[in-house]
Amino acid sequence: MSGIPPEMDALVERMQRAHGLDLGVYDLGHLGKTVEKQRLAKGCATLTAYLELLTDRGEAEGLVASLANHHSELFREPLLFAQLEQRILPALATTKGVSNPSELRVWSAGCAAGQEAYSLAILLLELSQGRDAPVPFRIFATDLSTEQLALAKAGTYAESALRNVRLGHLERWFTRRGATFEAVPELRERVSFSRHDLLDADSECPKESICGQFDLVLCCNVLFYYRPDSQRVILDKLGKCLVTGGVLATGQAERNTVSAFGLQAMAVPSTLFRKVR
Ligand SMILES: C[S@@+](CC[C@H](N)C(=O)[O-])C[C@H]1O[C@@H](n2cnc3c(N)ncnc32)[C@H](O)[C@@H]1O
Repeated sequence: MSGIPPEMDALVERMQRAHGLDLGVYDLGHLGKTVEKQRLAKGCATLTAYLELLTDRGEAEGLVASLANHHSELFREPLLFAQLEQRILPALATTKGVSNPSELRVWSAGCAAGQEAYSLAILLLELSQGRDAPVPFRIFATDLSTEQLALAKAGTYAESALRNVRLGHLERWFTRRGATFEAVPELRERVSFSRHDLLDADSECPKESICGQFDLVLCCNVLFYYRPDSQRVILDKLGKCLVTGGVLATGQAERNTVSAFGLQAMAVPSTLFRKVR
């Protein structure tokens, strides 16, 4: 495997051969740092000793689990959510509603415990206020991790995940339960959570969405954990799931990975891209 240091090459090969686990998809820097952390945590003096340990299936699965980062917050990237609230969602909503009964379709891809999806649901529910008719919308939110999806459905968050939430939003959309805050049922029922692997070659859009055809896709803080060829697989898939004129949002750290996919940057330095054809 070109470009990979020999020890990492051996590790990737061993994980594939012994356990059928593909670590070759991960960004090399991320993989190297995670392996090093695990090696030290397991008290192995050398990488070779850690490689021996990885013959055990449980250890191998432990390494794969430690490669996943599930950190998220509501309204995590304030600039992105300000643009969505002020420009993108109102513009997309004008194409739906009274004259066009079709719904505004949104996908939060790599949703962790639902923080991003509920942030979008709050903005969309509030967008309907003061309009003649509510904006019809559906939010599909997917992740690889079934544990994260269970947390997402529960919709309960520590204060630290809510530090970017306005006081008015907190009071309207959450109920305090001791040290945590629970999303109100009216908010929770507006998001459909399901498992979907963005690298699954056999499926383009989440099964629950049936046809994809999204007006807006958020795939934030997911791409940078992967190597360029895997990023391409994901971006290709997301591009196919968008309607022409639809918008893709990524995380700040990922904006440079998108440009080559028939998606046009909407404004620099924003992380929003429009599908133009
Ligand atoms: C760091 S969190 C980002 C959460 C949220 N999008 C945000 O920006 O706050 C990354 C999430 O992507 C999920 N993920 C990583 N690879 C994935 C894949 N191949 N398919 C689906 N989800 C994936 C992880 O399980 C994790 O919950």
